[in-house]
Amino acid sequence: MSKLRLGVLASGSGSNLQAIIDSIKCGNLPCEIAVVISDKPDVYALKRAELHGIKTETVQSKTFQNREAFDTELVRILKDHNVELVVLAGFMRVVTRILINAFPMRIMNIHPALLPSFPGLHVQKKAIEYGAKFSGCTVHFVDEGIDTGPIIIQAVVPVNDNDTEETLSARILKEEHRIYPCAIKLFAKGRLEVRDRRVIVK
Ligand code: GAR
Repeated sequence: MSKLRLGVLASGSGSNLQAIIDSIKCGNLPCEIAVVISDKPDVYALKRAELHGIKTETVQSKTFQNREAFDTELVRILKDHNVELVVLAGFMRVVTRILINAFPMRIMNIHPALLPSFPGLHVQKKAIEYGAKFSGCTVHFVDEGIDTGPIIIQAVVPVNDNDTEETLSARILKEEHRIYPCAIKLFAKGRLEVRDRRVIVK
């Protein structure tokens, strides 16, 4: 069976990228990472890719006039590498319809909260401050809203009374590393069907 070609977009440490790499290496994920793209130079995500012999590209937003021009360049690189599924792994930019139309229901994102609660940024802190008793993470397809696309998988973790942003983030991140490869595997095996807002796992 041919391997699904992934294009991973990251802006930071890339621990989710690492979880995907590890899953592929141990034969759990029938995929290959065709390219890792970062909007920031010198981030550890790029280093992780290089250490595993994966091609990397850096595309910096300051060299583009607007978000659409930036996304046009992303699409060019992803298509050049014959990417079939785009995986946002700590990619800290809002994507435009240029990218979404080029990969309809073929872009996944991981978010460190239980959507639709706490979309946006700094959501672990927001969950603590709100007094939520549980939080978690969500893998979803990307649409034009901010963290609004159809939900594929979620994992729940408790919020403890003595949690700080750091301790809760670490507990959530552990679950992210577990569920992101699972969601990608379901996609790779053709087991995800999107019906309106709902993702059915076949
Ligand atoms: C992860 O917690 C991910 O859910 C979050 O950034 C972190 C990246 O960590 N993504 C977002 O907040 C997207 N809005 P990583 O670089 O170690 O994978």
